[in-house]
Amino acid sequence: MGYCFPQYLKTDIMEDKKKIVLSGIRSTGNLHLGNYFGALKKFVDMQDNYDCRFFIADLHALTTHPDPKCLHSNVKDIIAEYLAAGLDPEKNILYVQSDVPEISEMYLLMNMHAGIGELMRTASFKDKARKALGIKSMSDDIEKDIVGANTNKQVNAGLLTYPTLMAVDILIHKADFVPVGKDQGQHLELTRRFARRFNSFYKVDYFGEPVNFNFGGQAIKVPGLDGSGKMGKSEGNCLYLIDDEKTLRKKVMRAVTDEGPKVPGLAPTQPVENLLTLMELVSGKDMAESYRQAYADCSIRYGDMKKQIAEDILKITLPIRERILDIRDDDEYLSKVVRSGAERARAYAADTLKDVREIMGIRKF
Ligand code: TRP
Repeated sequence: MGYCFPQYLKTDIMEDKKKIVLSGIRSTGNLHLGNYFGALKKFVDMQDNYDCRFFIADLHALTTHPDPKCLHSNVKDIIAEYLAAGLDPEKNILYVQSDVPEISEMYLLMNMHAGIGELMRTASFKDKARKALGIKSMSDDIEKDIVGANTNKQVNAGLLTYPTLMAVDILIHKADFVPVGKDQGQHLELTRRFARRFNSFYKVDYFGEPVNFNFGGQAIKVPGLDGSGKMGKSEGNCLYLIDDEKTLRKKVMRAVTDEGPKVPGLAPTQPVENLLTLMELVSGKDMAESYRQAYADCSIRYGDMKKQIAEDILKITLPIRERILDIRDDDEYLSKVVRSGAERARAYAADTLKDVREIMGIRKF
């Protein structure tokens, strides 16, 4: 009898296995330029070289109680935006978190190993709890307020266990890399901690420790248009991929600047520095440098600068916008993409869940 090489061994050995990359985004609004340059564009660059799995975290979105009437269309918007920006559903697994029930089950199991102390100390939880309770003070000592009498409707347990769910998103795929922003670093640290704790509790060497993806060079920070920090949907300072030409131009022309340099040789103020950073991203280094010079010799004209920025942003976003509109209208295509993504994601998730149940001692009769 000839030796039969098992299929799984064959692919494992003969193909150099690609590293697994996983990232998710909460479905809480349209994607903006910060998402595009900070994540989406990089995902598109990665799709040939890694085994990429990208998903819409609609269960995570539930922690902040979105209107049920909008939840589905929010998910749909983001998928259309992902596809329009160039993510190829043949090369990646694109799926919706709630389409993979294995995640919810493993979330329950993993919560048995998540400490309420460490969850309560997570910065994102404290921020959200603070916001929900209207606490202005940035003091870390807000645990007493959170467990106070009238907080039940504002601070839910889903918010507390957000990191458990995120850890499961990652571990269920046995991801090697998780490309996320700095603000997610603590969640990733908890993921590694839960993985280690699970391994040591059950005396297994089951989960690896996923790390953030280092794209080489500095992290891209896309500033907002209001002269302060970075672009973010909660800040209300965003340029969206879906913005039409008129809206986008208007937003850029209204961006905060200053009164203009009065003395030569000064460094740009923060609002102008922000616009220069944005310009560098969309118009290139040389163009931004020429405006930097113009600031230094007091000849800068903010109107011209903004026109240039708007023009160059539109070159990037308008073609994407058109594709978004087309894809969003194509329910058949969207459902095909999402169903195939869910099917493939579930196959991996089911394998991991089966192992986890077994390791924890859950057996069938
Ligand atoms: N918490 C992430 C955010 O707010 C979204 C997210 C959920 C995620 N699960 C994930 C990101 C798993 C990476 C991997 O941005």
